[in-house]
Amino acid sequence: MITLQDIGKTYAPGTKQEVKALKDISLKIEKGEIFGVIGLSGAGKSTLIRMINFLEIPTTGTVEVDGVILNSLAPRELRNMRRKIGMIFQSFNLLSSATVADNIAFPLRLEKKLSESEIKERVQYLLGLVGLEEKANMYPAQLSGGQKQRVGIARALAGDPKVLLCDEATSALDPKTTSSILELLLDLRQKLNLTIVIITHQMEVIKECCDRVAVIDGGVITEMGRTIDVFTNPQKELTRRLVSAVIHQELPELLAHTEIVKEYHEGAKAVIELLFLGPKADAPVIVDVAKECQVSISLLSGNIDHIQKEPFGHMIVEVAGSKEEIKKAIVEFERRVHKVEVLGYDERKQLSEF
Ligand SMILES: Nc1ncnc2c1ncn2[C@@H]1O[C@H](COP(=O)(O)OP(=O)(O)O)[C@@H](O)[C@H]1O
Ligand SMILES: [Mg+2]
Repeated sequence: MITLQDIGKTYAPGTKQEVKALKDISLKIEKGEIFGVIGLSGAGKSTLIRMINFLEIPTTGTVEVDGVILNSLAPRELRNMRRKIGMIFQSFNLLSSATVADNIAFPLRLEKKLSESEIKERVQYLLGLVGLEEKANMYPAQLSGGQKQRVGIARALAGDPKVLLCDEATSALDPKTTSSILELLLDLRQKLNLTIVIITHQMEVIKECCDRVAVIDGGVITEMGRTIDVFTNPQKELTRRLVSAVIHQELPELLAHTEIVKEYHEGAKAVIELLFLGPKADAPVIVDVAKECQVSISLLSGNIDHIQKEPFGHMIVEVAGSKEEIKKAIVEFERRVHKVEVLGYDERKQLSEF
């Protein structure tokens, strides 16, 4: 649905204020996908999303949306093309002197294609989509942040776009309201077959609803992949930091104070990290492996989280047994869980007894 090819953007080129905001960005976003872009402030996220509707013109490279290369369009064609692309913002950008219904009707009235009664009908439908039927005649100041963003979404969808761009759309909202807006986006993707691009500095947002994610740093995409893969196997330091903010994988305090060595030696216990994914996340793996391999297993830390509603478990266990038994237990874990990492061996008492 969206292809960015070798995109670069330099602000104020040739001057003292020159900023290379984007460098050589290439990516493809599939129809119906929810694609996230995450990065720190100033990384180039807003610049990137504004390329997709040509609110900013790239210095180099081409942008293609739904088979049309935007670089080649005359201003009028570009205006038409933009109707296929809705956008919502962190600050909602509503007209404070207009009612909810008039805010939503605004782009339709500009377009002058529909009669007033058709507009009224369409607004009613959009209010229903975002769950604001009761608020049609209220003013933005009378709404909560979440309700304002729902109006923003309804207005962005007024022209029946194929693509919805979200620039930090939940950054001004509390966590619970953020979740409800993300639920709404997931629901709208389904109902309207939308392609959604979300840019955010909140990893939580990516975790809850993005199919794929790109990490942007200094105007460059440093990592890109399925959300589940990036979360379970981050490659770059920045990505690891972003992921660890929402998924707690730090070694427990206990381990930080215990010496663990790489090699097995007589009487050592193995400290093993396990990652569980999908339906397997709640299988009785620990009990099964303990029984099967005749080892004793203590849980040192563990939690279960969700990535796009998929269960995702993380555990650190300590396995006590003979060298052969531990080896067998590792093989059995590998058969049953997503990822197994032997952190090392500890020869002291069972850690959990400390
Ligand atoms: N209109 C502009 N003129 C000059 N520099 C800009 C403009 N917009 C953004 N920048 C600069 O480009 C870089 C990326 O900005 P931006 O895309 O807004 O980042 P983000 O949204 O990730 O915080 C920053 O260094 C910013 O100062
Ligand atoms: Mg921004």
